[in-house]
Amino acid sequence: MKREKFGSKFGVLAAAAGSAIGLGNIWRFPYIAGQNGGAAFIFIYIIFVAVLGIPLMISELTLGRHTRANSVGAYKVLRPNSKWKYTGTLAVITSFIILSFYSIIAGWVCAYLQQSITGKLIKVVPSELESYFTNLSSNTGSALFWNAIVIGVTAFIVISGIQNGIEKYSKVLMPILFFTLIALMIRSLTLDNAKEGLEFLFKPDFSQLTTKSLLEALGHSFYSLSLGMGIIITYGSYIGKKENLATLSLQIIIADTLMALMAGMVIFPAVFAYGFEPQSGPSLIFITLPAVFQAMPLGAVFETLFFLLVAIASITSTMSLLEVSVSCITQEFKVNRKKATILLALGVFLLSIPSTLSFGLWSEVQIFGMSIFDFMDFIASYAFLTIGGGLTCVFVGWIWGSQNAFKELTSDGIYTMKGFKVYDFIIKFIAPIAIGLIFLHSTGIIKL
Ligand code: PFF
Repeated sequence: MKREKFGSKFGVLAAAAGSAIGLGNIWRFPYIAGQNGGAAFIFIYIIFVAVLGIPLMISELTLGRHTRANSVGAYKVLRPNSKWKYTGTLAVITSFIILSFYSIIAGWVCAYLQQSITGKLIKVVPSELESYFTNLSSNTGSALFWNAIVIGVTAFIVISGIQNGIEKYSKVLMPILFFTLIALMIRSLTLDNAKEGLEFLFKPDFSQLTTKSLLEALGHSFYSLSLGMGIIITYGSYIGKKENLATLSLQIIIADTLMALMAGMVIFPAVFAYGFEPQSGPSLIFITLPAVFQAMPLGAVFETLFFLLVAIASITSTMSLLEVSVSCITQEFKVNRKKATILLALGVFLLSIPSTLSFGLWSEVQIFGMSIFDFMDFIASYAFLTIGGGLTCVFVGWIWGSQNAFKELTSDGIYTMKGFKVYDFIIKFIAPIAIGLIFLHSTGIIKL
C-alpha cells in the first residue's frame, strides 16, 4: 500500500513541533520548574534535551523514514520474527493510555477557554478559584463532555489523514500558537516587577537541585519532545527522502524548548508581579493564573488568549498521540483510516472514564496508593515511556546499528554530516544508562 507523505517542509515541521509543543510545555514544564527551584532545573533540562533528546529524536525519525512503517511495523521490517515488535506494541499502548488522561486535562483547558470567552471565569473571586476548579474537575458529566469534545476534534482531524488532516491543521494552528505566545509574553514582561519572575527563570541557584530534580528533568525532556512512544517514528514514516532529518530534529527541539521557556516567561513574571507563589504544582494554570489575570488590566482578553494557546497546543499533540495507534491499526490490520480512527477514539474515551471519575465519585479508589488518574499517568509517562525510550536506543544502537541510522540521516549520502562518533557513543552507552536510571528512580526501585 502506498504510504501517505507530508506535503511540504513547513508542514512536517509544523506537525512535528505541534506534537512536541503541548501541555508538557505550558502546563507541566512551568510547574515542575517551579517546584524544583526554577533556573537551575531549567539549565539541567536544556543539557538533557541537547545531549539525549537530539540523538533519540534522530533515531526515531530515521527508524520511521527508513522503514516507512508505523511504530510496530518499523521493528517488524528491520527484525522480522523477533520479539522487538513488542517495543512498538508498548509504544502504541503508551500513547493510547497517555491520550486517555491527556484529553481530560485538555478538556479542562477547553472548558476554561469557553468560560473565559463568555466572561464567566474572570468574575470568579480569587478565594473561590480553587473550588471553581474542583467543581469542574469533579463534575464527571461536564468533564466527560469536554473530554469528548477534545477526542472528537482530534478524531475529526486524524480521519482526514496526513496532508489533509494533521498537516493542514498544524500549518494553521502553529503560527497562531506562536503569535499568541509572543503577545502574552510581551504583556507579562512589561508588568511592573517582571524582573523577579525572570530571575526565577534564568538565575540558577544550584543549591536547590536534588538528584530527584535531575531525574525529573531527564524524564520531562522525553515527555516534552514526544519521544519514547512511537510518535516520532510514526511521523518519520511520512517524511520524504529529501528532507534533512538532522536539521528537522534541531528545529523541533529548538522550537519545543523555546516554547517552554516562553511559556515560563509568560507565567512567572505575572505570578511574581502579583505576589503569588510559583510552586503551586499542577493547579498553577487553573487556579493561580486566573487570579493573576484578574489583577491585570484587560485580564479577560489575556485570559482568553492564554487558554486559546493551551487548547491549540493540546490539540496538535492529541492528534499525534492518536495517529500512533491509527497508523498501526491501518497498516498492520488493513482497517481503513475512518473506521480505525472512530473505533480508537471511542476506545480512548471509554478508557478515560475511570480517570475522570477519580476526580469525583471514585476519588477514594486507590491503586498502589495513587488515584486512578495518577496511576495511569505514572504507568504511562514514567514507567512505559522510559522503557520505550530505552529499548528504542538499544535497538537502534545495537540491533539495527547506529551506522544504518546515520546513513538514513544523511538520506543515503545526499547530505554530508559529521558527528557519527558522538551519536554512536550516546545512543549505545550514555542514553541507555541514563534512561535506565530514570526508570529505576521513577518506579521507586532506587530511592534518591
Ligand atoms: N509532547 C507533548 C507535550 O509535551 O505535551 C505531547 C505528549 C507526548 C505528552 C507524549 C506526553 C507524552 F508522553
